[in-house]
Amino acid sequence: MSGEPQVGAELRALREHFTRLMMTYRFGMDEVMTKITILRDEFAYAHEYNPIEHVSSRLKSPESLLAKARRKGVDLTIEALRAEIFDIAGVRVTCSFVSDIYKVRDMIAAQQDLVVLEERDYISHPKGNGYKSLHLIVEVPVFLSDRVQPVVVEIQIRTIAMDFWASLEHKIYYKYDKAVPQRLLDELKEASLAASELDEKMERLHDEVLQHSRDTATEHTEGQSASPFAPSWELLDSYLRGTPGGQGATDAPGSEGTGGASGVAG
Ligand code: GTP
Ligand code: MG
Repeated sequence: MSGEPQVGAELRALREHFTRLMMTYRFGMDEVMTKITILRDEFAYAHEYNPIEHVSSRLKSPESLLAKARRKGVDLTIEALRAEIFDIAGVRVTCSFVSDIYKVRDMIAAQQDLVVLEERDYISHPKGNGYKSLHLIVEVPVFLSDRVQPVVVEIQIRTIAMDFWASLEHKIYYKYDKAVPQRLLDELKEASLAASELDEKMERLHDEVLQHSRDTATEHTEGQSASPFAPSWELLDSYLRGTPGGQGATDAPGSEGTGGASGVAG
């Protein structure tokens, strides 16, 4: 590009590799996002509540990746970055209850094409400052045009209360430029304990309500959560009677002009 200094072939190659590296991590991260979204939607249908409140992802910026590499003394080669920095791609899952965190962990770990390289349980072993979360380092295969590239993604799974705490702690840490007064540190620790108590109480209440709704469930409503994928009773009934009716009858793959949501003009 004009305005940039002349760069040598070596630097140009490094830049090209670096760009490809970041792109590949984006693909791996998107793959994990899709997996988790599928688990969320399926679980919500099969059970009576949603164990996953929120999922988000972030790719480390090239600046912060290079800064971390320098800080940790990692060579500026693609191989070294790959092997030593595990949070280039990050996915964060916020759950309703603590038990959901482990359910989500188990569902992720059970996926055949995904390998859990490391698990850190800061819930059973919170950090000294009060930080709680379950961290998984996973590897997923990304299918590129000419090869399959395994990509490492960090997944943080936590409750809403743990997430609330972690974002406040993070903010305070940076506001005080990493020199937080002891009084605030003590109060953060207390807040972490209060958050854990809230998590426990909310889960107890939720269990009680679930049990109540199971006890009082009628035959009619049991296991029949509303779903955008569910055909209507009328449609199924007319199908079984051999009198195809309703608007969906011609809505088969390959059929054209059924006036779906796409609204593409023919
Ligand atoms: P880095 O801290 O990224 O070098 O990784 P690590 O090898 O120390 O792993 P660790 O599991 O301790 O932390 C990884 C990530 O978890 C961090 O980048 C944060 O996003 C989050 N995390 C860890 N500890 C804390 C904490 O004390 N407070 C907050 N707010 N987040 C934390
Ligand atoms: Mg750390």
